[in-house]
Amino acid sequence: MSWTRRKPMETMTPAHEGRRLARTLSWPHLLALGVGAIVGTGILTLIGVGADRAGPAVLLSFAIAGAICACAALAYAELSTMMPAAGSAYSYSYAVLGEGVAWIVGWSLILEYSLVVSTVAVGWSGYAAPLLTAIGFPEALTQGPELGGLINLPAIFIIAVVAGLLMLGTHESARINSLLVLVKIATLTLFVAVALPAFDAQHLEPFMPFGFAKHMGPDGVERGVMAAAAIIFFAFYGFDAISTAAEEAKNPDRDLAIGIVGSLIVCTLIYVAVAAAAIGAMPFTRFADSPEPLALILREMGQGGVARIVAIAAVIALPTVLLGFLYGQSRIFLVMARDGFLPRSLARISRRGTPARITAVTALLVAIIAGVLPIDEIAALANAGTLIAFAAVGLCLIVLRRRAPDMKRPFRAPAAWFVGIGAMAGCAYLFVSLPMQTIIACGLWNAVGLIVYIAYGRARATAVLEAGG
Ligand code: ALA
Repeated sequence: MSWTRRKPMETMTPAHEGRRLARTLSWPHLLALGVGAIVGTGILTLIGVGADRAGPAVLLSFAIAGAICACAALAYAELSTMMPAAGSAYSYSYAVLGEGVAWIVGWSLILEYSLVVSTVAVGWSGYAAPLLTAIGFPEALTQGPELGGLINLPAIFIIAVVAGLLMLGTHESARINSLLVLVKIATLTLFVAVALPAFDAQHLEPFMPFGFAKHMGPDGVERGVMAAAAIIFFAFYGFDAISTAAEEAKNPDRDLAIGIVGSLIVCTLIYVAVAAAAIGAMPFTRFADSPEPLALILREMGQGGVARIVAIAAVIALPTVLLGFLYGQSRIFLVMARDGFLPRSLARISRRGTPARITAVTALLVAIIAGVLPIDEIAALANAGTLIAFAAVGLCLIVLRRRAPDMKRPFRAPAAWFVGIGAMAGCAYLFVSLPMQTIIACGLWNAVGLIVYIAYGRARATAVLEAGG
């Protein structure tokens, strides 16, 4: 049965020249790739949405989303060092859980990576648009049709720039990424340094005005600590993009685990400080649902100059998230094409050692989405895809511990059963806490995926497996 057949682990990275990616990345690059992909629209923008949904208890939402991501990160670290393949959760599922689950996970990863790129590009455009319109750029070209504009050109532009960089070469991209990550960390540190001294514990009262579990408010918005956690989850992921760099890591045994776990620890520390500083600085209702909450808080504190610096730094540094996810997306497409699920001609590696063709196709698709769709619901849908992938990775961890307890594990997740079940149960709880229309949209996406699998992917994957991967 094709649905349950598994891909042998030894065929996961291609032996043939011309289809293998160049090994150019060491652990500082991977750590920077992780922090670069994690810190972005989530902490810069969605912290306001989170406060709107949960009140000061958004701090608890951060803790819950962070704990679930910690379980997923440990599972990723163990599996990516055992199977250093560019396909990430898709590849682990193919080797451990079988083709059917792998297809669902791959299809969900496409949802995650594309929609994150589109969301962050639109978010970037939100910061860049005021600067552009001030010098005469037409406003209609800075927003998609649903917001009254024609097309979001800045969003398309930034995707094109990042894709061009990636096609030039992974090493060059990683160096620029590291520099921009430093800008991002410096900006958030500046915010904390200015806002934290204004901390007033009274702003934390009442702590949980909208309760814990997701429920529909009188204004038609779903609220509660878990509803906020399901959105804030967006802020934490990105460490998984490191696992897609496995084939390009110089020393995957050690460096992947450092990159994945290290980047999540660094970002969690930053987030705790930023969230506490924001919530303590003023009553949450004043910045809830703002498109630029951190800058708004600073302005209201009379720190207009610092607010401007934060806004400009966001424009400069947000593209690192695009870089991490566009990079990951092209690698996942690449592996799925190698496996026969997508046209194989896309899997060719350019002379510079990068999958240029698939990077261009990916960029085109996400640019179309970013050019015409509004940001609102896209982030929640990206979360839905990510939650499916993270739950599958938790399951892979447990199944492989049972099935192959003695297999070489360069990194062993501590308390594997707790970590695996924590990832699965946590992701399931976050998934049901998403807005109902997001859950329905995700179901529809997977129904389309199933049709593509039956009509196209299944037979071609058979041919690839029979030819020895
Ligand atoms: N974690 C990434 C962000 O917040 C996706 O932008």
